[in-house]
Amino acid sequence: MSNPLMELINVSKSFGSTDALKNVSMEVQPGKILCLLGDNGAGKSTLIKILSGYHPPSNGTVRLEGADTVFSGPREARQRGIATVHQDVGSIPLMSIGRNFFLGAEPTTGNWPFRRIDTSKANEIAVQQMERFGITRVKDGNQLVGTMSGGERQVLAIGRAMYFGAKVLILDEPTSALGVKEAAFVLKMMRIARENGAGIVFITHNARHAMAVGDSFCVLIQGEVAAQFKRGEKTREEVLNLMAGGEDMAALEDDLEQVD
Ligand SMILES: Nc1ncnc2c1ncn2[C@@H]1O[C@H](COP(=O)(O)OP(=O)(O)OP(=O)(O)O)[C@@H](O)[C@H]1O
Ligand SMILES: [Mg+2]
Repeated sequence: MSNPLMELINVSKSFGSTDALKNVSMEVQPGKILCLLGDNGAGKSTLIKILSGYHPPSNGTVRLEGADTVFSGPREARQRGIATVHQDVGSIPLMSIGRNFFLGAEPTTGNWPFRRIDTSKANEIAVQQMERFGITRVKDGNQLVGTMSGGERQVLAIGRAMYFGAKVLILDEPTSALGVKEAAFVLKMMRIARENGAGIVFITHNARHAMAVGDSFCVLIQGEVAAQFKRGEKTREEVLNLMAGGEDMAALEDDLEQVD
């Protein structure tokens, strides 16, 4: 196995008297999808925020490419190759696809003081990058983001992260608001990002989606790692049981209905 891109070692995080994470250790490997599963309040968002530099851990170590690391904030984490795609994908519906793709990092044309954003170049790159990820319907980067479907927006955000050289790609519930077809499309794009060598952290509470693409799995319950396993080591029913903590069978049945 190659060296991990990113590691958490015995990470804990408390907010006042709430222990959101307790002694969590995990590894993000290049070219692999790590699924982070857990119910509401399990600590998933807190964990993402530690990986992406929003929160320092209360205790424990974050390691990036082998070196102990304390991020000064999300900007530093981003600069060091950690891209986070939030559930709302942070895109602005009334912005053009080209603008949205670059968001302040647009290519420019001309020399100072006549330098300006090279809109046609930005649009061209955005459309090319989307094509690479299988969105062929969009031909014009001037088109507004609001005209894209939820799945296409997720894919746009993944394509953007890859274009800017993300090493670690953190996806927060990228499939939860999508229909079956769109979710399948996003899962396919995650596989492409994996083939490109990214280490992917896929946060979800959909066991079926996780098992469709995951290489390794980490189940969080009330801030603790309840189980860690690799692809093929557990069945979907076992995973659902783990997520339900072996307690709430009614919730388990609801979950089963949802994924079937
Ligand atoms: N900034 C904060 N201040 C105080 N408590 C917090 C803060 N952020 C999270 N918590 C608490 O930490 C626990 C874990 O929350 P977290 O948001 O990480 O869960 P989650 O797994 O993302 O849940 P969900 O599936 O609902 O998004 C919860 O009890 C939550 O109330
Ligand atoms: Mg959350």
